Amino acid sequence: MFLNLQHISLIDARKDYWKEMRKALSPTFTSGKIKSMFAPIDGVVNRMVDHMEKKRKESADSVVDVKPIFQGLSLDSISNCAFGVETDSFNNPGNKLFKTCLNIFVGFTVQTAFESLMLFTFSFFPFLQKFMDTYGDKKQWDYLWDMTKEISEKRTHERGDFIDRIKEIKKQGILNEYQTYAQGIGFFQAGFETTSNTLSTLTYALAKNPDVQEELFREVEEVMSKIGDGKMDHETVQDMPYTEACLYENLRLNGPVTRVDRLCLRDSQLGNMKIKEGTLVQVPIWAVHHDPELYPEPDRFDPSRFLGEGGKAAASGGDFKYLAFGGGPRLCIGMRWVLVNKW
Ligand code: HEM
Repeated sequence: MFLNLQHISLIDARKDYWKEMRKALSPTFTSGKIKSMFAPIDGVVNRMVDHMEKKRKESADSVVDVKPIFQGLSLDSISNCAFGVETDSFNNPGNKLFKTCLNIFVGFTVQTAFESLMLFTFSFFPFLQKFMDTYGDKKQWDYLWDMTKEISEKRTHERGDFIDRIKEIKKQGILNEYQTYAQGIGFFQAGFETTSNTLSTLTYALAKNPDVQEELFREVEEVMSKIGDGKMDHETVQDMPYTEACLYENLRLNGPVTRVDRLCLRDSQLGNMKIKEGTLVQVPIWAVHHDPELYPEPDRFDPSRFLGEGGKAAASGGDFKYLAFGGGPRLCIGMRWVLVNKW
């Protein structure tokens, strides 16, 4: 069915088509909706902890590969919160959705210098993609599209999630059918590897920096001791500045998105620089995040950089020094969900 996936889902869309889509999908992550996602995520996290413990016991040297575990956490959270589907990838790792996402998106990440060069080339000359198969097995992409359609059509009650937005977009005829269900692909594409990658690199950074790990553990214990039933909620998470700072610092050093680009739509002036219509401007996130003038000793993992006044964590994207979630109107739509409503 898909001959050209480019510029269909929110991540790749451009111009007015992007505006329409962004407006239609933005209500997916309002504060109220993020709060209501805590209960399902709590269930997913509990299953993950049991699974991790099982894996630790099974391992002769107590060493556990965390990446596949965080991939399960990421997939189960997105499928549950956004699509209303229980995947349980820990007890059922063979489920088709999990396998499909692993096949498409893990294989989709840039792993060699050649792939990096090709990506760079495609961003300047997108028409070249027409002549090369960059998406792999199209049946797998079709599966995500079909799944989004099937769930939307079968849904009979409102749940306030992404699928409800898709139903609304369909009802109002904002996008055609092909485009509407392609948004489901975009959500997995943008949310699956980014989230599991972030948690994996954070775990590594904590292992390499035991003092930071100790401080983080102390904060979690302190907060947990105050909660009677041991369940974290929206308010409790707001009270964990050091944990939040660790996340910001890890995303600064090891963020999964290292570059974003923008296409200039009309001749523009930026400071004393003239930018011609049609120019592709690339924003080097990794380089900004490793600039010693912005972040002294940039290679050091130091969460305290993000602890501001009164010990509160802050990494505002307004000044474009911190770009882990991009910036401007195209800022990551899932960011408030990932950060539990911050910014
Ligand atoms: C740690 C996790 C994540 C990171 C670091 C991240 C980072 C980013 C970045 C850098 C962009 C590009 C922004 C720009 O061009 O300025 C982006 C866009 C996007 N992200 Fe995320 N993301 C994360 C998780 C998620 C999740 C969980 C979802 C959805 C469930 C999601 C959905 C999207 C979408 C749909 C876009 C395209 C927005 C647009 O072009 O209007 N992301 N993300």
